[in-house]
Amino acid sequence: MSAAAWWRDGVIYQVYPRSFQDSNGDGIGDLPGVIRRLDYFQWLGVDAVWLSPITVSPDADFGYDVADYCNVQPAFGTLADIDRLVREADQRGIKVVLDIVPNHTSDRHPWFIEARSGRAARHRDWYVWADPKADGGYPNNWLSPFGGPTWTLDERSGQYYLHNFLPQQPDLNWWNPEVKDAFDAIYRFWFDRGIAGFRIDVAHGIVKDLHLRDNPVATDEDPPHVRAHGQRNIYNMERPEVHDVLRHWRTLADGYDPRRILLGETYVLDVRTMGRFYGAGDELHLAFNFTYVHAPFKASVLAEVVAESELVIPDVGWPVWTVSNHDVSRVMSRWCQGDERKLRTALLSLLALRGTPVLYYGDEIGMPDNLVRQEDLQDPLGKRHWPAPRGRDPERTPMQWRNVNGGGFTNAGLKPWLPIGDTARNVEDQQADPGSTLNFVRDLIALRRASPDLQSSQYRQLKSPPNAWAWQRGAATVAAVNLSGRRLRIPEVAGRILISTTRSRAGERLADGLTLGAWEGAICFSASTSAPVR
Ligand code: NOJ
Repeated sequence: MSAAAWWRDGVIYQVYPRSFQDSNGDGIGDLPGVIRRLDYFQWLGVDAVWLSPITVSPDADFGYDVADYCNVQPAFGTLADIDRLVREADQRGIKVVLDIVPNHTSDRHPWFIEARSGRAARHRDWYVWADPKADGGYPNNWLSPFGGPTWTLDERSGQYYLHNFLPQQPDLNWWNPEVKDAFDAIYRFWFDRGIAGFRIDVAHGIVKDLHLRDNPVATDEDPPHVRAHGQRNIYNMERPEVHDVLRHWRTLADGYDPRRILLGETYVLDVRTMGRFYGAGDELHLAFNFTYVHAPFKASVLAEVVAESELVIPDVGWPVWTVSNHDVSRVMSRWCQGDERKLRTALLSLLALRGTPVLYYGDEIGMPDNLVRQEDLQDPLGKRHWPAPRGRDPERTPMQWRNVNGGGFTNAGLKPWLPIGDTARNVEDQQADPGSTLNFVRDLIALRRASPDLQSSQYRQLKSPPNAWAWQRGAATVAAVNLSGRRLRIPEVAGRILISTTRSRAGERLADGLTLGAWEGAICFSASTSAPVR
């Protein structure tokens, strides 16, 4: 693998630090805990670890409300710990990617505290302020994806401030060049410490309409998620000027070396819009594809999303795929209803598509969403919307390392910050079981690493019966999944099975096409396939 291409050829693993490994017995995961698990990443075969925010935060939104961008949250450790993590990860050939939150700060960030001290404050214009309407009402009709208006009245100055998310997360004003300079310094601070790149929070939304115009109200013509929200977010997010900022950051990252990457949280649910965040190869290196994450688990739909993505991502760009993260229900529950067979088809697809796979911690052992009782809720959305199932705690519960009290995450007898799920499903037992999902994922990653076809070659969808999805990668590799409860045959596939979700079929020669049992998938060595459908 050439050094410049690690992020194209490799696998990225997302760690939610609060829930990964507690090392000091306070029930909260931390950086020394992540360091302790470096051997695990190496054993699994991942190339990089992306840590959800580790910077100082009052935790109104668990790290996504930053009070100091250049320091480590005390519960997670110190700058010395992050330096050690980078160093020890590097010794194992693993990169460290951090999360950066440029859309908003915490309301306890010194910039905002100063900004709200008065209209003439030095940092006033670093945030977005607006006068009330004549009747005292909100400056415009913008609604937060977290619920309610995006404006909170600052009693002292009589103006509203903007927050696309919680009131404790005031939005920065990206029209102000000083904000840009401040973030340049933050990027440099971390790049200088050897960080390989950033996952950029709300990468599509940081610039707001200069005139703060009302969003258009949703109509029957709009897709369901827009109708549910009630309006089209075209003025509070997705402004064209965001591309200037992304280009600027790309220049900054490239100024270091081509191995530093920008991975954007481009939450746009429209593949064509997502494709634009690659620019002409001069914006994001990778733009998350949420249309795929939120698609139903149906062969025809997933194939369509991938086909469209393949069309819109420019040649200079590179896709990135994920099936879970800290904001959406886990794949084991969302797509698979707890069915291990389904999970393996989902993971096989993730690792066999053209593009960088991002694996969410715990998905490799099939952790499901863990239901959290009202008294245990932590996520502000979960609290706000209870009993509606909108909270994000279920996908954020501690990693299940061992079948012991505390799950190997924290000391036995101690109450972790979120309750641990059923530890009968755990890393230790699955490592010891060659037939486990964990070993399946590890073998898939190893196969991918050994296969230039899977790592970097073209994607071509193959003709297949309803409920099957088959695609060729490069000259000689085919992946196929049967997303139905009925056996089916894909006549076009010839050759030999390299790995199957059932683990029993490796080496099998295909004399008469590929027959897949219910919810079965396979990757085959297949030099002679017929014409693609696209
Ligand atoms: C996206 C993050 O992934 C999510 O966890 C957070 O609540 C919002 N952005 C606001 O920062």
